[in-house]
Amino acid sequence: LVAALDRHIALIGFMGAGKSTVGADVAKRIGRPFVDLDREIEAELHASVPEIFAERGEAAFREHEEELAVEALADPVPAVLALGGGAPESERVRESLRTRALTVLLEIDIGEAWRRVSGSGRPLAVDEAAFRTLYERRYPLYRESAQARARDVDDVVLAAGGTHVELGALELLGELVPGEGPVALVSDPRVAGIFGADAQVALGDRIVSTHELPAGEEAKTVLACERLWRELRLDRGGTIVALGGGCTTDAAGFAAATYLRGIDWVPVPTTLLGQVDAAIGGKTALNLPEGKNLVGAFHWPARVVVDPATLETLPESERRTGLAEVVKTGLLAGEPLWQLPEPDLVRRCAGFKTAICLRDPLDRGPRAALNLGHTFAHALEAAADERVAHGDAVALGLLAALTLSGLDTADVERLLRPRRVRVDPDRAWAALQRDKKVRDGRVALVLLEAPGRPRVGVEVPEADVRRALDALIAK
Ligand SMILES: NC(=O)c1ccc[n+]([C@@H]2O[C@H](COP(=O)([O-])OP(=O)(O)OC[C@H]3O[C@@H](n4cnc5c(N)ncnc54)[C@H](O)[C@@H]3O)[C@@H](O)[C@H]2O)c1
Repeated sequence: LVAALDRHIALIGFMGAGKSTVGADVAKRIGRPFVDLDREIEAELHASVPEIFAERGEAAFREHEEELAVEALADPVPAVLALGGGAPESERVRESLRTRALTVLLEIDIGEAWRRVSGSGRPLAVDEAAFRTLYERRYPLYRESAQARARDVDDVVLAAGGTHVELGALELLGELVPGEGPVALVSDPRVAGIFGADAQVALGDRIVSTHELPAGEEAKTVLACERLWRELRLDRGGTIVALGGGCTTDAAGFAAATYLRGIDWVPVPTTLLGQVDAAIGGKTALNLPEGKNLVGAFHWPARVVVDPATLETLPESERRTGLAEVVKTGLLAGEPLWQLPEPDLVRRCAGFKTAICLRDPLDRGPRAALNLGHTFAHALEAAADERVAHGDAVALGLLAALTLSGLDTADVERLLRPRRVRVDPDRAWAALQRDKKVRDGRVALVLLEAPGRPRVGVEVPEADVRRALDALIAK
């Protein structure tokens, strides 16, 4: 895996890049301890970095730095570490980084770095020419040590989750699929027609077979999966590349989780829903006649390759489905992410989902927040025998969740224009009760204390939930 599920995430980079600030934010978002090595040295020596340089000299500082960095990297509890700018100059530190961490280079332009740190009292930021020389010397070491490069918190989180977001990434698939082993390419007929050839060219010699799953939910059937299992000729070192929407990635991911008891897989989502949601977080699934996603496995992808350029050919109706999840993500994050230009919107939403899944890879707690609005959506979909588009159902679900949270619904109304659906209210209510156990006349829901502050398991009186559900149904 490229992802740092059980490894440290080590931030390296030059002075002024923001390793301490970004590192603290990353740790908070993915629920890990944060270790700022300069602060650790200061605590150990009871002096500030400038004082240590002045009183003991740089060599003594470097000795402590190396010792503490190697020690922190040896700690078995995966943390987020911010290393001092000079730490990667030590071969011992570089060796520990190689074996113990996913190392991310936090980039900064030299000019900007100088602006940020000159006059800050840092001992190595006194003379601009010397500062630039130091940068030139260290930069190759940073490049050599880092498996990923980042400019902000989302970039680091995405790297930690093994999610690569880049315009044009499809063309780089050959390099981005980890390892050197054989690859089986799986897509649906439509996506194969649009992007199949590009993907094959990018994968080059590694590709040993191509496969088609039916379009849409038909892909997520035991029958389609069995056909795929039986077509595959990969050994344990092979990788399934799943190119397409959420149905393709759910089904091909499940095949990868189960074939030969589990082989690597790389989703390459081509729908907005897939790029901001379905392909991220390691959940794979098939449907049964009894219900959606009833069979599945957690199987974290070797890497997720997101190319926002593939969205150009996406039909408007499919974009709408994805937009509902974008709005949900923005509400959970407390930021109007939907206002961003598309590539950045995808990157930020993918970053949000990656963080929550890293925090809770097996869906045992905080990840439940991603269900905001979905209890209502599922109930309406069940009552409509799936005749309502998922995006429309989620839009209505968000409306209900915001109303019950006592929050403004204007953004959802304006962006998603939810239209009430014509379904049998009693059937929808029965479906909701089946989905969510009603205990002592109360239903546990995901609500928002405020945008950006989700609360899971909020117990709401049954009558209020029923009223909110009825308000989504056309009379
Ligand atoms: N695993 C998870 O965490 C997770 C999360 C959310 C949703 N899902 C699942 O995702 C599925 C829905 O995914 P979806 O909405 O992406 O559906 P999908 O895979 O059926 O794709 C929708 C349609 O768009 C077409 N398409 C895909 N990319 C295209 C492109 N770039 N240009 C033109 N056409 C393109 C496909 O051929 C298909 O017809 C559901 O089954 C849902 O359960 C999974």
